[in-house]
Amino acid sequence: MTQSPKRYTITAALPYTNGPVHIGHLAGVYVPADIYARFQRLQGKDVAFVCGSDEHGVPITIKAKKEGITPQQVVDKYHAIIKQSFEDFGITFDNYSRTSAPIHHQTASQFFKKLYEDGKFVEEVTEQLYDEDAQQFLADRFVVGTCPKCGYEESYGDQCEQCGTSHNATDLINPKSAISGNKPVLKETKHWFLPLDKYESWLKDWIVKGHQKDWKTNVYGQCKSWIDDGLRPRAVTRDLDWGIPVPIEGAEGKVLYVWFDAPIGYISATKEWAEQQGKDWKPYWKAEDTKLLHFIGKDNIVFHCIIFPSMLKADGSYTLPDNVPANEFLNLEGNKISTSKNWAVWLHEYLEDFPNQQDVLRYVLTANAPETKDNDFTWADFQARNNNELVAVFGNFINRVVVLTHKYYNGIAPAASNLSEVDKETLKELRAYPEVIASSLERYRFREAQGKLMDLARLGNKYLADEEPWKSIKTDEERTKTVMYVALQIATALSVLSEPFLPFTSTTLKQMLGLNTAQQDDNGSTTKNLGWKDISQTEELLAPGHTINKAELLFSKIEDTQIQQQLDKLKASKKANEMTNATVTPQKETIQFDDFTKLDMRVGTIVEAEKMPKTKKLMVLKVDTGIDVRTIVSGIAESFTAEEIVGKQVTVLVNLAPRPLRGVESQGMILMTETPDGKLQFVNPDESGVTNGATIT
Ligand code: 2FM
Ligand code: ZN
Repeated sequence: MTQSPKRYTITAALPYTNGPVHIGHLAGVYVPADIYARFQRLQGKDVAFVCGSDEHGVPITIKAKKEGITPQQVVDKYHAIIKQSFEDFGITFDNYSRTSAPIHHQTASQFFKKLYEDGKFVEEVTEQLYDEDAQQFLADRFVVGTCPKCGYEESYGDQCEQCGTSHNATDLINPKSAISGNKPVLKETKHWFLPLDKYESWLKDWIVKGHQKDWKTNVYGQCKSWIDDGLRPRAVTRDLDWGIPVPIEGAEGKVLYVWFDAPIGYISATKEWAEQQGKDWKPYWKAEDTKLLHFIGKDNIVFHCIIFPSMLKADGSYTLPDNVPANEFLNLEGNKISTSKNWAVWLHEYLEDFPNQQDVLRYVLTANAPETKDNDFTWADFQARNNNELVAVFGNFINRVVVLTHKYYNGIAPAASNLSEVDKETLKELRAYPEVIASSLERYRFREAQGKLMDLARLGNKYLADEEPWKSIKTDEERTKTVMYVALQIATALSVLSEPFLPFTSTTLKQMLGLNTAQQDDNGSTTKNLGWKDISQTEELLAPGHTINKAELLFSKIEDTQIQQQLDKLKASKKANEMTNATVTPQKETIQFDDFTKLDMRVGTIVEAEKMPKTKKLMVLKVDTGIDVRTIVSGIAESFTAEEIVGKQVTVLVNLAPRPLRGVESQGMILMTETPDGKLQFVNPDESGVTNGATIT
């Protein structure tokens, strides 16, 4: 990548179209991507900022089945809702497309065909999981089972949500059909595989040698561990009926894997936009002086850093991403955001409760962005940041400047006379801000950048508080004019530099300052349409004689009652969930007595416990089973500490075939149950002196 790119292709992860979007999506992907795109445009850069709905894949089929409608009806419904939410929150995509669009089907098919014709795939008949009742192959989210890497028991066929590993469905331990709950059988089927192993050494060079310094630690770390684990061929086709048909002979009834077609959606969206604009799409994807950036959440890292680049490399004519600034996850009031548990703040619902307050949410999500670790959104923090920062700092400064300019000068900007040292210093500091904020943005540090923007508002507040124009107006009119002149320069700078972060506020502020009408404003001044760099380079940002408009409230205080309403809403979700969870799981299929007697369950005592390093859930236990003292790896670390369980009597299934979990052989299973809020509990004998080794019959 050349030091100064000629154009920017900025992509934001295509959201699955099986539900609306929530604050986690906004914080992790779309707000940072939008800040970056707006910032580059303000610098006069050539930007293509693209996204669209990810309309294929199993989650959509599952949703359709659940609701008794067609997948097309599902995606039509949510595409409209999601698109509207993005517009409402000021996400300035140049094109928001969808993967059901003909241009996408065409682009993805061509992409596949070229790779196929160039011999880049391996065609192989393999045994895949099959649900005999549903008469369907079980790919991706149609199958759940235990993750071979971390032991998480609800891992999907293609990816484990617990540890992020992406695997093949046949790698799952104890797979279960998500359609019927049945144990799948293996059945032969033909598929096309991208031999990632062949790209391993190239990826090593490109990522490990090439991007160790400039990619975020979380992104680089995930890629490195993937590469170090060794890459294997990945199937890029599926036996499903919803998706893009595999465009070659002999592939009837098969579609492209959603993670093959979705990232190509970025290319299709660019093509569609270029067509509308009468531009050529190719330089945005193929020119060396294009900076390609993928904004995503951490669960998408492997697809954007390993698989998609390998696809682009296999084609050979594309540029590769310069950076993939992935974020971690945002939690809500201490718990993981969950669509199925309705533990989320939905964007369309937020706007009903906080109309026209999009910037407040954008601000809080950026101030709390999960850039380097998972972060928590709380309504108390939302209120505090609004009231103590946006209202008390930014809003207060602007209000004072505009009100005083009207009070003293009927809204006509005064001229400065003698600039004091403080004035000169303040203006100098002001001119440094574009560079300071840009330096954070160029390193994808959005929280830091926004913090610096607020420092500029603080500078304005402090300047007014120190110079006290409301006092000098009684004694020194010239000094007051100078102070108000300086304050108006700061307000003008804020109206421009705030645009990426607080776009609605920036527009209102520009209108208040009479800056909205570009080159020739109605107020007869010489003020021009200011860009990012103009803030450092223009002598007078707001010229004397320019008329400003009346003050409008930029932010308003958020009351405790409003916050309580939101907390009550979440409480209601939690309650509804507990009630749903409390409904008893239906009884399983009847078994014969012989089946039961095969299980050898004993009372045992945990004698040692240690959390397995680098895992969230796993604990390595030594259990005295009465027969022996053996090692059992159990996924209980989120519910118990090692100290509290040593000495506990538990029930152990002792004749379960040993299996390795993260390199440790587990020789049995501890029986557990779960409370409605997800906390595990031991199924243990009561304290009536049962000895280790006693059988459960
Ligand atoms: O995780 C998701 O929501 C996926 N739909 C992201 C796809 S990103 C891209 F490759 F299109
Ligand atoms: Zn896992």
